[in-house]
Amino acid sequence: MSFLSIRNAYSQLFPPKPFFTEKEIPTQQGRIFIITGGNSGIGFELCKILYGTGATIYMTSRSKGRAIAAIKTIVEARPAPKTPGQLKFLELDLNDLESVKRAAATFGQQESRLHVLWNNAGTGANMVDPGSKTAQGFEAMVGMHCIATLLFTKLLLAQLQATAGLETPGSTRVVWTSSFLAEGGSPPNGVDFKSLAEGTKDRIRNYAVSKAGTWMLCREWAQRYGGDGIVSVVQNPGNLKAGSYAGTPAITMFLISPLLHEARFGAYTGLYAGLSSDISLENNGAYIIPWGRIREDKDCPRKDILKAMLPLEEGGLGYSAKLWQWCEEQWKQYL
Ligand SMILES: NC(=O)c1ccc[n+]([C@@H]2O[C@H](COP(=O)([O-])OP(=O)(O)OC[C@H]3O[C@@H](n4cnc5c(N)ncnc54)[C@H](OP(=O)(O)O)[C@@H]3O)[C@@H](O)[C@H]2O)c1
Repeated sequence: MSFLSIRNAYSQLFPPKPFFTEKEIPTQQGRIFIITGGNSGIGFELCKILYGTGATIYMTSRSKGRAIAAIKTIVEARPAPKTPGQLKFLELDLNDLESVKRAAATFGQQESRLHVLWNNAGTGANMVDPGSKTAQGFEAMVGMHCIATLLFTKLLLAQLQATAGLETPGSTRVVWTSSFLAEGGSPPNGVDFKSLAEGTKDRIRNYAVSKAGTWMLCREWAQRYGGDGIVSVVQNPGNLKAGSYAGTPAITMFLISPLLHEARFGAYTGLYAGLSSDISLENNGAYIIPWGRIREDKDCPRKDILKAMLPLEEGGLGYSAKLWQWCEEQWKQYL
């Protein structure tokens, strides 16, 4: 293990104190946000913080009951915030592209603008058995985290573009959620196209590939739509006590629990990714690490992934564009 790998791991496992929290964010009144998977874990904590800023927040969930209960918990919490926002339920199941299309259409019927989309929803490695498929038969991890998430984001492009055209450049954003495992558990170059459709027998690897893929899609989005004024960033939220660890063997939990932080800290990473003025069109495609810092590419130990993501004309493998096209191919027949 290189010094760079150790320093990188230490920095993300034991981050310094957050400096961009609910205390620092200005009012978000008049702004419209979507947080996918907002009914629990990190997404819930982010909804809670943003509710206090006066924003209109669409909390997506695949369960109306869980979303309504989560919204009630936030709205009824006391003391109430001085500038409460609006929290709305939007049904979205990333396991089913029909649900993805319905969710984007339902949002589009209500809003013509979208200021920030947090693509947070995701399922941990131990909740999905290798071989599991989405409704349309895609390998579950790549199906949810790459194919469905990209489709949802693409279907919201009109609202993002309309907003970016009117607002401060760089303030309209898409935040993608990766994981430390994208670097820690993925194969050479992050993604192996040969096993992308079916996955492998290794659940951690399937998860890691889907999260490396998320990183690539973030970079490709920045490449394609940065010119429209939309910023695209990817985050490792950190290692948090949240649902991602459901199904993890007890012995593993015993060993890793000292490394886990309260879920609220993961929301700080997201808050920074979505709202900090440190991020602009100049650093579009940035990788955000806990609890809200930009990790420069020079500090990334996985040079193979960085190279894979680069376009062919820049000496890379063109994987970001290739994965994007691959995702489009997969969903094409369902549109
Ligand atoms: N916790 C960590 O340490 C950690 C580390 C790195 C990355 N992450 C990433 O951070 C994100 C949030 O994780 P978390 O730990 O907060 O997990 P969590 O508590 O399980 O929350 C995940 C949210 O996503 C939703 N979701 C899961 N699968 C979905 C699907 N197929 N379609 C729509 N919604 C779906 C869940 O809905 P239900 O309530 O219906 O299940 C829930 O609302 C995930 O993308 C995860 O991979 C987490």
